[in-house]
Amino acid sequence: MAVIEGDGIGPEVISSTVKVINAVKGIYRLPIELEFVEAGLNAYKKYGTNLPKHSQNKLADSNCVLKGPTTSLEGFGTELGVPVKIRKSFNLYANIRPFKPLPRVNNVARLDAIIVRENTEGSYSGFEYMISDQVALGIRLATRSAAEKIFKIAFNMAKNRRKKVTLAHKANVLKATDGLYKEVFLQEAKKYPDVTAEESHIDALAGWLILKPESYDVIVAENLYGDIISDEAAALVGGLGLISSANVGDNYAMFEPVHGSAPDIAGKGIANPIAAIMSFKMMLEWMGYPEAANCVEAAVIKTLNEGKNLTPDLGGTGKTADIENEIILNLSK
Ligand code: NAD
Ligand code: IPM
Ligand code: MN
Repeated sequence: MAVIEGDGIGPEVISSTVKVINAVKGIYRLPIELEFVEAGLNAYKKYGTNLPKHSQNKLADSNCVLKGPTTSLEGFGTELGVPVKIRKSFNLYANIRPFKPLPRVNNVARLDAIIVRENTEGSYSGFEYMISDQVALGIRLATRSAAEKIFKIAFNMAKNRRKKVTLAHKANVLKATDGLYKEVFLQEAKKYPDVTAEESHIDALAGWLILKPESYDVIVAENLYGDIISDEAAALVGGLGLISSANVGDNYAMFEPVHGSAPDIAGKGIANPIAAIMSFKMMLEWMGYPEAANCVEAAVIKTLNEGKNLTPDLGGTGKTADIENEIILNLSK
């Protein structure tokens, strides 16, 4: 497996995760080898690009990647961010982001849901132009094939959960692009008679998520909507420091925390490593090691329950290294 440390708090949370990986490898005798790959702001400063060719080759030679957050450049003409590049080049069409109440954290709302986010198109398709210094143009892409793939994943997930899928869309305004997604969604829904298919305007859903969180099970959304409601959902169940994700395609996958490089706390040693550690847990499931995955999750839950050395985002005064130690001590078969 490949590992991208990232920048900002990336190296801090990935360092904790690597220690957890090595501990879990020892307990379960897992045949996992780590291959470190340069990417992000540090690679940009060194090579003039955030994902140099040698890094792309290393990723292509691996079966999956665990990725720490990387800072994105802003300004027209700057290159795409590392996660967007990797999602596109490996066609990681589904971004799966679980949210559930955890012990002792600030659960603003009782949300137990999964967001399935389309990961390769929408406003992220790269069709952006400066027509003049007064006018900018962006084109949104929606394809039937990408829609079918994420809806299939969403309905299959719901079958093993509370049997409900909600499509977030804005087909009342975006009649072609979101209209196509809605049409494909309703068509796909017919194949899953046991699952309730619900559709909701994204703006209304943003409010209902706070007011009626218990009414959601699987939420499926195009790229940008899925991005925005992910951070909203995170805020409802303890914050970004806890939320993991799996970017999956047919042949490759990338696992990363939902949060970014957090420049406001980088270098202070107080970042919460749980989102990154839980991303490794999702990786273990994808690799076919469910027992090891459960062991990681159980250690995180035990640590939260004990409430010792929690990081400031969770209301504690602990450091990244402290909570990492607690989690490692709590790992057991
Ligand atoms: P952010 O997620 O980095 O930070 C938002 C807030 O959450 C900040 O107050 C931060 O301190 C807090 N936070 C985030 N992770 C935390 C953790 N593990 N522990 C404790 N607190 C945490 O969002 P942003 O400020 O919008 O983005 C900063 C940079 O990261 C940008 O360049 C953005 O493009 C990039 N980014 C990268 C990824 C990725 O690589 N997957 C994801 C999101 C944002
Ligand atoms: C995420 C991030 C990325 C996105 C950025 C950093 C490109 O916000 O993974 O949620 O918008 O997809
Ligand atoms: Mn995001």
